[in-house]
Amino acid sequence: MTHMKIPLSAPDISSAEIEAVVEVLRSSRLSLGPKLEEFEHAVAIYTGAPNAIGVSSGTAGLHLCMLAFGIRPGDEIILPSFTFVAAANAIRYVGANPVFVDIDPVTLNIDAERAEAAITNKTKAIVAVHTFGYPADMDALLTIARRHGLLLIEDACEAIGAEFRGQKVGALGDAGVFAFYPNKQITTGEGGMIVTRDSAFAKKIRTLRNQGRYETDEWFQHSELGFNYRLSEVHCALGIAQMRRIESMLMARETVARAYHQLLDNCADVVLPPTSVPHGRVSWFAYVIRLHERFTRGQRDSVLKHFASAEIGCGRYFAPIHMQPSYEAWRHSCFLPVTESVSERTLALPFFNKLAQTDVQRICDVLLEACAL
Ligand SMILES: Cc1ncc(COP(=O)(O)O)c(C=O)c1O
Repeated sequence: MTHMKIPLSAPDISSAEIEAVVEVLRSSRLSLGPKLEEFEHAVAIYTGAPNAIGVSSGTAGLHLCMLAFGIRPGDEIILPSFTFVAAANAIRYVGANPVFVDIDPVTLNIDAERAEAAITNKTKAIVAVHTFGYPADMDALLTIARRHGLLLIEDACEAIGAEFRGQKVGALGDAGVFAFYPNKQITTGEGGMIVTRDSAFAKKIRTLRNQGRYETDEWFQHSELGFNYRLSEVHCALGIAQMRRIESMLMARETVARAYHQLLDNCADVVLPPTSVPHGRVSWFAYVIRLHERFTRGQRDSVLKHFASAEIGCGRYFAPIHMQPSYEAWRHSCFLPVTESVSERTLALPFFNKLAQTDVQRICDVLLEACAL
């Protein structure tokens, strides 16, 4: 990746994280040790979910959810297209069919009414993605899921710490998945965590992530077909140290979001992300603005180029899944006008805990300059 003077994202690693990782390296216990349990416990306590299972990535977590819930070839799973490709891929890994529905133009989360309209007799689950750390409308989605006997899986990969009616996302549906890639609110380098209230489901996930071994199995005994989706002690040590200061990191992110808001609030060229949501708490993952509707996709791409030439990291969040080459077979059956219109005009601005106010000012100056070209 090209070096940027101001990157799009940056992890927040303090000496506590470095010391925690070194301590594990010195211990010589690098996998399946006490740090995994401690990290899982920290996430369980934080989210209020009785069970948390560490896995090697958010994608691995979503894949295991599909398997452990018995999603099979021919099943349909409803999800938004305006998100990262991982959830749709996880559905395809088990031979099921992702059914894409449109989003709400303000929160950019799945439109619950459209989700209900997409239900057929093959539908088994809805994936509620808490996009950019904005809690999805869990009241409406849980009601729909219960009414139709469907599972509700939360893709909370971008949303650790977000809340809906005072409860942490991830722990509201049948299962939730977090991800810890370095651009996330907390990072383990690579990593993920599944949370659930269902202990039998949690046990199944623990078996599947460890080559199909029951916890009571002998070494080299594999009772089921499983995977190596384990999370090492090194990753977990990093995660524990990050969890210890998650609230201060979320506050730092909120401060950066407010700084952007203050500088761009009166700018007629852009639509800003809402600073709050009804019944919820945003956990700021990214700062994604939209150019005004009079801007074309080509003009948005010129703004991106302008940022690149100023050596400022800036991204298209998201190119919708149904428009990806690997989803060409799905494209013809999708009618997603809000998704397509929004995704043509989005820009993710640099966003990380230690982004200086002077850099925020510079980014906003470059943005306004680019919009005026
Ligand atoms: C919404 C969403 N789902 C799933 C994932 C997948 O997580 P990972 O990259 O850890 O596999 C991500 C991470 O980028 C994401 O943003």
